[in-house]
Amino acid sequence: MGFKHILVALSTATFALAASPVGTGTWTSVTASFDAQECAGGVVNGNTFKLPTSPNGSTSGSGCSNGHLRAERRYKNDYTSGVHQFGGQFQITSMTGNKISLKQTFNGDDGPYFIMGVKSNGDLYDVEGGATIASGVATVGTTVTINTIHDANNQLYDVYVNGKKTFSTSAPGGSFYDKCGAYTSDSGTGAITVIWSDVSFWTQ
Ligand SMILES: *[C@@H]1O[C@H](CO)[C@@H](O)[C@H](O)[C@H]1NC(C)=O
Repeated sequence: MGFKHILVALSTATFALAASPVGTGTWTSVTASFDAQECAGGVVNGNTFKLPTSPNGSTSGSGCSNGHLRAERRYKNDYTSGVHQFGGQFQITSMTGNKISLKQTFNGDDGPYFIMGVKSNGDLYDVEGGATIASGVATVGTTVTINTIHDANNQLYDVYVNGKKTFSTSAPGGSFYDKCGAYTSDSGTGAITVIWSDVSFWTQ
């Protein structure tokens, strides 16, 4: 194989791994920096988000006042209007807990708006409304691709699991940003270790 062929093969492989936008229209890539939030024993280590079984009792740190286990990235992609897409892949590498948030779209004016959680049976669900987003897809060792599209102008929110739209809901007005990682919901428990990769943002 010639050098040129190797380069073509490499770039094709890289492209196949990178997150891509879903949905119609033209998407422009956006770069967003983030802060890591670790609460009550949660640990962020690069792309790995780890929660122990139960909180350590500490409520100090950014986003830790409710004492919940948290190991999350708070992306600084804040917006109040426009159409915004999040994309990324997660893989749970171990889990003994239940009802753990993996991805949030936070409304800075109003608290959490959309929270996608995982149950111990691998179901992805809408923590706020309770509806199932995808049954049994998020089992230990399986890579799952998530895209969300938030049309803040028309107050619509869609969730795509492995490239298929499986959930839609309405959105309030407000100032939004995305989070991913692991965070125990009100009725949730640790432990979990989850890896997020290829987290990307686009707008149109
Ligand atoms: C609890 O865990 C957090 C990190 O998630 C850490 O900052 C804090 O020091 C720990 N507190 C105790 C009492 O171990």
